[in-house]
Amino acid sequence: DETQRIRESLLEWYDLNKRDLPWRSKKLESPSESEEERAYGVWVSEIMLQQTRVQTVIDYYNRWMRKWPTIHHLSQASLEEVNEMWAGLGYYRRARFLLEGAKMIVTEGGGFPKTVSALQKIRGIGDYTAGAIASIAFEEVVPVVDGNVIRVIARLRAIAANPKDKVMVKKVWKIAAQLVDHIRPGDFNQALMELGATVCTPLNPSCSSCPASGHCRALSISRHDSVVLVTDF
Ligand code: ADE
Repeated sequence: DETQRIRESLLEWYDLNKRDLPWRSKKLESPSESEEERAYGVWVSEIMLQQTRVQTVIDYYNRWMRKWPTIHHLSQASLEEVNEMWAGLGYYRRARFLLEGAKMIVTEGGGFPKTVSALQKIRGIGDYTAGAIASIAFEEVVPVVDGNVIRVIARLRAIAANPKDKVMVKKVWKIAAQLVDHIRPGDFNQALMELGATVCTPLNPSCSSCPASGHCRALSISRHDSVVLVTDF
C-alpha cells in the first residue's frame, strides 16, 4: 500500500544520501559496540541537536565523547566540567540534564533504559528524545517528531502546519506512528528528519529530488491548482 511505498522510498533515499555523522550507526566498523554504548551517543547528540545546528554539534559531540566516552565516565563529572564543555552551545540546562540523567541511570544500575516509557522517566528526556533513543539505538517501533518532521508530514498530507498548535502536533505524532517502518524504525525516523533538513526545507523545497514527491498531497495540490485541503485523517 501507499504507506509501505513511502517507507521504501524514504529508506532507499536515506541509504544513498544520509550525512555521515559521528553518532550515526557504526555497526559495521565497530560491531563490538553495544546497543547501550550507542544509546549514550544518540542521547548526547539528540540533546545537543535540539537547539543547535548539525554543523555546530559535530565538534562539540566529538569533544564530549573524548572526555566522557561512556555514561559511567559522564556520571563522575561535575556540573562545572559539563558546563565548561557546553560553553557556546547555550541552553545550559541541557548539559545539567545529561549529567543528572547519567547519574540516575548509573545509580539505578539497570543499564541504559531501552523503551520510550522507561526513557521518559529520566531527567530531561521528553517525547522527542525518548523516541529518538528507543528507535535509533534499540529499534523500538516508535515515531519521532521534531520541527522538520512536522513540516514534512504536514506537506505529505496537506494539513496546516503550525508547530505551536498542540492539537496539530498530536495529529502529526499519530500519523508518524502509522508511517514508521517496522523493520528499520531508527533509520526511517532519521530519514524523515534528514529529508526535512535537506530537501523539504521551509522555503523553496527541492521537490524534484524528493523521494516522497509522488505521495505528497501539498505538491499535487499546487500542481493541479486545487484548493482542497485534506484535514480529515
Ligand atoms: N535532527 C535531530 N536529530 C537528527 C537525526 N538523528 N538525524 C537527522 N537529523 C536530526
